[in-house]
Amino acid sequence: MNQPVMAGVAPVNPPPFVKHRKLVDWVADIAALTRPDRIVWCDGSQEEYDRLCAQMVEAGTMTRLNPAKRPNSYLANSDPSDVARVEDRTYICSENAEDAGPTNNWIAPAQMRATLNGLFAGCMRGRTMYVVPFSMGPLGSPIAHIGVELSDSPYVAVNMRIMTRMGRAVYDVLGTDGEFVPCVHSVGAPLDAGQADVRWPCNPTKYIVHYPETREIWSFGSGYGGNALLGKKCFALRIASGMGRDQGWLAEHMLILGVESPDGDKRYVAAAFPSACGKTNFAMLIPPEGLKGWKVTTVGDDIAWIKPGPDGRLVAINPEAGYFGVAPGTNAQTNANCMASLARDVIFTNVALTDDGDVWWEGMTKELPAHLIDWQGQDWTPQIAAETGRKAAHPNARFTVAATSNPVLDEAWDDPNGVPISAFIFGGRRSSTVPLVTEARDWVEGVYMAATMGSETTAAAAGQQGIVRRDPFAMLPFIGYNMSDYFAHWLRIGQQLATSGAAQPKIFCVNWFRTDANGKFVWPGFGDNMRVLKWMLDRIEGRAGGVEHVFGVTPRHADIPWEGLDFSQDMYEMITTIDRAAWEAELKLHDELFDKLRHRLPADMLQVRQALEQRLAGS
Ligand code: OXD
Ligand code: MN
Repeated sequence: MNQPVMAGVAPVNPPPFVKHRKLVDWVADIAALTRPDRIVWCDGSQEEYDRLCAQMVEAGTMTRLNPAKRPNSYLANSDPSDVARVEDRTYICSENAEDAGPTNNWIAPAQMRATLNGLFAGCMRGRTMYVVPFSMGPLGSPIAHIGVELSDSPYVAVNMRIMTRMGRAVYDVLGTDGEFVPCVHSVGAPLDAGQADVRWPCNPTKYIVHYPETREIWSFGSGYGGNALLGKKCFALRIASGMGRDQGWLAEHMLILGVESPDGDKRYVAAAFPSACGKTNFAMLIPPEGLKGWKVTTVGDDIAWIKPGPDGRLVAINPEAGYFGVAPGTNAQTNANCMASLARDVIFTNVALTDDGDVWWEGMTKELPAHLIDWQGQDWTPQIAAETGRKAAHPNARFTVAATSNPVLDEAWDDPNGVPISAFIFGGRRSSTVPLVTEARDWVEGVYMAATMGSETTAAAAGQQGIVRRDPFAMLPFIGYNMSDYFAHWLRIGQQLATSGAAQPKIFCVNWFRTDANGKFVWPGFGDNMRVLKWMLDRIEGRAGGVEHVFGVTPRHADIPWEGLDFSQDMYEMITTIDRAAWEAELKLHDELFDKLRHRLPADMLQVRQALEQRLAGS
C-alpha cells in the first residue's frame, strides 16, 4: 500500500498483507506525531518474539533464565516507580462528565487531547514503534473484537503476543475495512541522538486515557501491566464495558471455569473478585482428596465477555490468550496447576533471580534461598530480609504465560461460540461481616450484592493496601462509564433473560477471607473452595439445602460436603454468622456508595436496601 513519505518521519512501509487503508493512515498519523526512528509491523511469529527478547536481553531490560531450569523464559525488572496500575492517573474522557460517573476520573476530551498531543509529540524519538495487531477472543468469533496497539516498548510487543491472539492472522479478519480499537502507547522517554537508554524507560508523568465515544485508548509514561498492555484492562474492560452497554452484552472482571462432576455433568461459572484476590487460583482449582472425581478446568482467569447466545442463554469467552498473574504467594500447594504452567516459556516481571539463574518470590518455597538478586537488582539474603523487611519480589510481581501452558485448560477455552454460564459468583476480601457463601434470592438481589461488594485493597494498584473500599462487581477501577448505568445495564440483562425465557444464571456472593480473633484466616480456601462450589452447583440443580437470612441463603454446616476436612460447626459459625451490628454498619457503607451514585442509581437498588434493613430490624 502506497504511503506518502514525510520529511523526518520514519517510512510507514506496511507489509503486503496489510490491506486496511484507514489503519495504515492512522499508523502514519501517529508516527508523524510521535516521531519514532523506525516502524516495525509485528507478525506474531516465534522468530519475531525470540528476536525482540534477545534485543531486550542485550539492552539489559531482560535476563534470560537458565534454560536447564526454566526453558525459553525471561526476567524483566521494572523501574521501582513503575510497578502497578495507576488508578489515579486513569481517565474516562466521555463528552459529559456524568457519563463517566462519580467513580471515574474525568477530563473533557478536547482538553485531554490537547494535553496528550503535547506529551506524545516526539515522544518516540530514538525508538522503534511496534504495530501490534491483536484479537480479543478467538479470531473471527462473533463475540471477539480487534485492536491495534502502537507502542514504543518491545516488552509490550512480546507480552501482547502471549496475552492476546496477536499477529498476521488478525489482518485477515480485519480485511480492508474491519473495525478495530486504536490503542496508542508510549513509555514517554524519547532518546536524543547518541543518548544511552536505561533498563526500563518510563516517565514520572503518566496518563491512561480512554475515549469511550470514539473507542480509543492513549497511554503515556508507564511500561507496566495493565497500564501498557492495552488489550487487557483498557480495551477488554473499560472500552468493552461501554460497547457492551450499547450492544447488549457484558464485559466483566471475571474468571470463567468449567466444573465437571464424577458423573460427567459439566457446567461453567464466571466469578468476579478484585485484583489479587485469588482469581487465578480459583480458575485452576484442584479439588481436595475428599471430592475425588470432580474436575475444574480453566476458560479464563481475569476477564469474561458475555453475550446472549443464539438461544438467548448467556455465553462467555475469555478475550485473553494468556495469564498475567500475581507471582508472590503462588506455590505447589496454593496452585500446583499454575506452578506447572510456569515451567517454561514465561516472562516474569519483578520477581527475584536465584544464583543458578532461576526465579523466586515470597511464598514460592517454605525454605528461603540463601542468596538472591532481588527485583531491584540488589543482593538479598534471609538475614537482610529479617533486618530490613525488604522483599525479594515486589508484591505485585507478575508472570506472563500462554493459556496453552495450563495443564487444566478447558477444551472449549478457544471455542468461538463461548461457553454457557450457569452462575455468577462475586467475592471480596473481607475479614469480617460477609459470610462464606450466600445465594441471592433473585437476580435483582444478586445485582445488589455485586453492586455493594467491599474489599480490602491489594498491591495490584498503586496506593495504600488493606483498606476496605466498595468495589462494585470488582469493576471499580475498570468500568468505562457511569457505575449507576452499569447497575441498570445488569438489571436490563436480567429482564431480557426473563422475557426471552432463557434461564437466569444464579448469583452467589462469597468471602474466603474471614479471620479469627488472632487475624488468621479461618477458611482453608484454595482447593477446599470446591466444597462451596459444589454447594452452588447443587443449588442450581435444586438439590441442596440452605438457610435464609437477611442477606440471602447460606448453607448450614450439614449442607457442605466435608469429606477429608475437619471443620467444626463452631469454626463454620465463625465464617457464616450474620452479626447484626456489623450489618447495620455495613448498610451505612452501602448508603455512602449509593449517595455517591445517587444521580442515576436504579430504584431497584434502594428497594433491596430497604428490604434488607427491614429484615435486619426484624432479625
Ligand atoms: C490484574 C488486575 O492485573 O486486576 O489482573 O490488576
Ligand atoms: Mn484483574
